[in-house]
Amino acid sequence: MQSLKQSLRKSILTLRDGLPFDVKSGFDAAIMARILQLPQYRKAQTLLGYMNFGSEFASESWVNQVLKDGKRLALPRVNRHTNTLDLYFVDDPETQLEPGLWGIREPMVERCERLKAINEVEFALLPGIAFTRKGARLGYGGGFYDKLLSGSARPVLAVAAYGLQVVEEIPQEETDVGVEWIITENETISCRQENKF
Ligand SMILES: Nc1ncnc2c1ncn2[C@@H]1O[C@H](COP(=O)(O)OP(=O)(O)OP(=O)(O)O)[C@@H](O)[C@H]1O
Ligand SMILES: [Mg+2]
Repeated sequence: MQSLKQSLRKSILTLRDGLPFDVKSGFDAAIMARILQLPQYRKAQTLLGYMNFGSEFASESWVNQVLKDGKRLALPRVNRHTNTLDLYFVDDPETQLEPGLWGIREPMVERCERLKAINEVEFALLPGIAFTRKGARLGYGGGFYDKLLSGSARPVLAVAAYGLQVVEEIPQEETDVGVEWIITENETISCRQENKF
């Protein structure tokens, strides 16, 4: 199972890393516009985001837009003792973040208020490498998000992904948490809808 996941991670990352800068920028803008139109985004007052790294969707601009829209924003921080994600409210990314695991910027504990529970979040944009139209999700292999979302109280789960990240099949384990929305440069996929067939 893990080796199947690992080879899929490698092939999709190679494709994603190969996107020319201007193509990627165009995709990022299209995805951003689509997320902002999503009623579930518009309705949500408290959101979970992430700071992008590598060839990921430019989630940092989305994070800034969330704040501009007057919403509450939470960002994750890796807890190295428990190997899980802790969530903190951030209202000024410029001054409240520091580089963490893999250089990804994360909230500074002393400058941010910690969320009591994930059920404070209404809408979450998750990172990831590959997705199926039915909502299966392949992350980077830490199980961080699967653990964070393992409880029954879940926000609306969405991902921003380039079309090349949407694949036919992903091996899934009991603990893998699926997503409801996949937003690509070309379409907004409702995974629940796909599940009906
Ligand atoms: N709720 C959980 N409790 C305990 N272990 C878990 C849980 N969720 C996932 N794991 C374990 O974490 C490891 C990595 O999981 P997986 O390969 O699905 O990572 P991923 O989904 O790619 O990563 P991420 O969730 O960080 O995006 C696996 O061994 C998996 O069994
Ligand atoms: Mg998983």
